[in-house]
Amino acid sequence: MKSLPFLACLIAAMAGTASAADLRGHGGPVRAIVVRSGEIATAGFDTTIIRWDPVRGTAKQVLRFHEGAVNTLAPLADGGLASGGEDRRIAIWGPEGTAPTRVLEGHTGPIAGLSVNKGSQSLASASWDGSVRLWNLSDGTSRVLGEHRGPVNAVLHHGRSILTAGHEGKLRSFPPEGPPTTRELGLPINALALAGAELVAAGADGKLRFFDADLNETGEIAVSEVPLVALAASGDGRYIAAAGFRGALAIVERKDRKILRRMSGPAFPLWSLAFSADGTEILTGGADRLVRRWSVATGEPVSPIVTEATEARLKAFESHRGAQVFRACVACHTLSPDDGNRAGPTLHGIMGRKIATASGYAFSPALTKMDIVWSKETVAKLFEVGPTAYTPGTKMPEQTIGNAEDRAALVDFLEKATR
Ligand code: HEC
Repeated sequence: MKSLPFLACLIAAMAGTASAADLRGHGGPVRAIVVRSGEIATAGFDTTIIRWDPVRGTAKQVLRFHEGAVNTLAPLADGGLASGGEDRRIAIWGPEGTAPTRVLEGHTGPIAGLSVNKGSQSLASASWDGSVRLWNLSDGTSRVLGEHRGPVNAVLHHGRSILTAGHEGKLRSFPPEGPPTTRELGLPINALALAGAELVAAGADGKLRFFDADLNETGEIAVSEVPLVALAASGDGRYIAAAGFRGALAIVERKDRKILRRMSGPAFPLWSLAFSADGTEILTGGADRLVRRWSVATGEPVSPIVTEATEARLKAFESHRGAQVFRACVACHTLSPDDGNRAGPTLHGIMGRKIATASGYAFSPALTKMDIVWSKETVAKLFEVGPTAYTPGTKMPEQTIGNAEDRAALVDFLEKATR
């Protein structure tokens, strides 16, 4: 019977349904993933950034600031993050705290890519306004580093140079001094990654192209029939992961320019990819709003270790439909008094509780002024109209439960499981 859990995972993966391995919390497609030791940060079309505990698979924090999709994230040396949005703004976040410490304004189009130098003194930004800007992170000033004719899709620090890729089909390298080098590829380049000493560019023709530091092409491999949108390289430069709007996720062995495996488990379109720090896992962010973790060696889903009392409660109500619906909430909310707050307040004792009164949780100011009392009716309403409409100013990512029976099952489950 040893093969049963494996089979269950496989079926779950093939059917594209969620498994316990997934990080659930976003209310829309996941557009960016950053992995570093002790943290996974993701951002999405739902305007939020979520910071996850990678071991427990739970959300630690929801950051809401951008007025539109968050397209890109970059890790900062102090444990903070930089985020760039459709709203043309760049936000700098400290290691803690739920408001940006600095907001960088200057671009006149959506921000598509961000890259920070080693010490996090300077930040380079790529925008669909056609420009690449270089920002001084200590005083927030910036200058235009260079331009492309059309949207700039990606930017990267490479040693002391800055590399950019444009929709018009050009790769450019800006050295600290002197004129930039330009390489004409003649087709839109959607993403860039550094792998070892090589630069990898993902093209609209489904090919990966490799370049040296002077932008001389060193090789190519066809991985997809459709344009590639998501790209990542493992920290040691051994593997490249790339995916297009349709088809499979390809993991490429860089040195041999060979496809190691193709994975069709992740939901397409895939918008974002990242390797774990040790290169053994690939994380995918896609249209199904989930962040999924896969083993590079086997292509199987990877489960975080969750041992909380909340899991025990979910198990106790396994056959209750509401417990299934609550799977969409569990990354951020606990049910039992022992588990406390996650990115959201504990829902223990939620029925009959006034909004924004759970102890030890820092609620958004807007919520503390509302006079909603949580009941089966009000919680059902919250997910019928969505948190943004029902509780304007909330940090909770936008999500609705369209099916009235699912809402009824959820609140029935909550009433029983949060007593
Ligand atoms: C990605 C994280 C996340 C997910 C997923 C999530 N929430 Fe929340 N939720 C929050 C945050 C954050 C708050 C606090 C809002 C604030 O202070 O702005 C919150 C607040 C709430 C509140 C109000 C609590 C109070 O004490 O006033 C309820 C009720 C709630 N969520 C229920 C749910 C349910 C049910 C689901 C699943 C269908 C869910 N949430 C999914 C993050 C999340």
